[in-house]
Amino acid sequence: MQPAPVLCGIGTSLPDRVVTNDDLAARLDTSDEWIRTRTGIRERRTVDPGTATGDLAHAAAQGALKSAGSAAVDLVILATTTPDHPCPATAPHVAQRLGLTGVPAWDLAAVCSGFVYALACASSFVRSGSAARVLVIGADTYSTITDPDDRSTRAIFGDGAGAVVVRAGTADEDGAIGPVTLGSDGSLKDAILVDAGGSRRPLPDGLAQDGRYFTMQGKTVFRHAVERMSQSAEKVRTEAGWSTGDVDCLVAHQANARIIDAVAAQMGLAPEQCALSIERLGNTAAASIPLAMAEAARSGQLRAGSRVLLTAFGGGATWGAAALTWPDVTPVSI
Ligand code: UT7
Repeated sequence: MQPAPVLCGIGTSLPDRVVTNDDLAARLDTSDEWIRTRTGIRERRTVDPGTATGDLAHAAAQGALKSAGSAAVDLVILATTTPDHPCPATAPHVAQRLGLTGVPAWDLAAVCSGFVYALACASSFVRSGSAARVLVIGADTYSTITDPDDRSTRAIFGDGAGAVVVRAGTADEDGAIGPVTLGSDGSLKDAILVDAGGSRRPLPDGLAQDGRYFTMQGKTVFRHAVERMSQSAEKVRTEAGWSTGDVDCLVAHQANARIIDAVAAQMGLAPEQCALSIERLGNTAAASIPLAMAEAARSGQLRAGSRVLLTAFGGGATWGAAALTWPDVTPVSI
């Protein structure tokens, strides 16, 4: 019988520094009221200089391995768009720091959909029998790529990391990951963009250059995010054989509370069925889904056996969704 991927551990890591809306309003032309009412965000975490995505990823991974009760892993996938260096990937170094030297490890760049993409890869490796235990990490430090003077991005993003362990098991176990769907639309490539620093527009020698910061066409992204997240979540719900009433919790990418409300409304779900970490953490990009899952598990919103839909939309554009039942796990925060 083909093995089924089963989520069996979850860990998180957040930087200590809290940046409130009032902190931002003290130096940018914005207000707590605007940010709260337009996005649902009250505060976010940011790393101090010297702390990189790999550091948060390493800590979250340690938590996930502890939560899973075993440090054994035969594959590491790190979803991020803020790697420690443009080259090489951050995942091999994270793996080495975890004592996993020799294990295949790579970064996956699907922006805010990265965690769902990485979970899909992990699930496929497990289903095919190519891996028995996979560490999936979503980690980002957008404070390192957003312009400190740009209120439209600085107010939204926060830094953080979340990780899960996926093991080979059976489809009827709590934690079993069911249908997964992924998609992309490159015609939207400019809607979320860091223009310079890649091969199309390399940064010349010197300091800050035009195009090095993250930009976003907010309204365009908003519209596509609602459409793609609700459609993909509905797709996996149907493929899982669940009715709308069967769904206990929607864990959507935490981009904007209004987007999550709109996705839930389109799917016929109540706002209380949505996991929400955005108020305290902002948009943590690839980390947002595992961070929201962990918070929902800690609060009791997610319990063993809960039927969960994950859904995300991000730059590229990319999107993806997955259906799973929640396992009996305790999230570990490091
Ligand atoms: O994570 C990847 C996926 N990302 C998303 O899904 C994000 C999707 N988009 C959004 O969440 C929203 O579009 C935003 C929160 C980014 C922006 O909200 P909006 O209601 O769409 O505002 P807008 O971009 O249309 O801007 C309206 C006004 C503009 O001023 P003017 O040009 O009308 O004078 C902005 O400059 O709001 C201004 N604005 C702000 N004002 C105060 C933008 N950001 C701020 C701010 N404080 N922080």
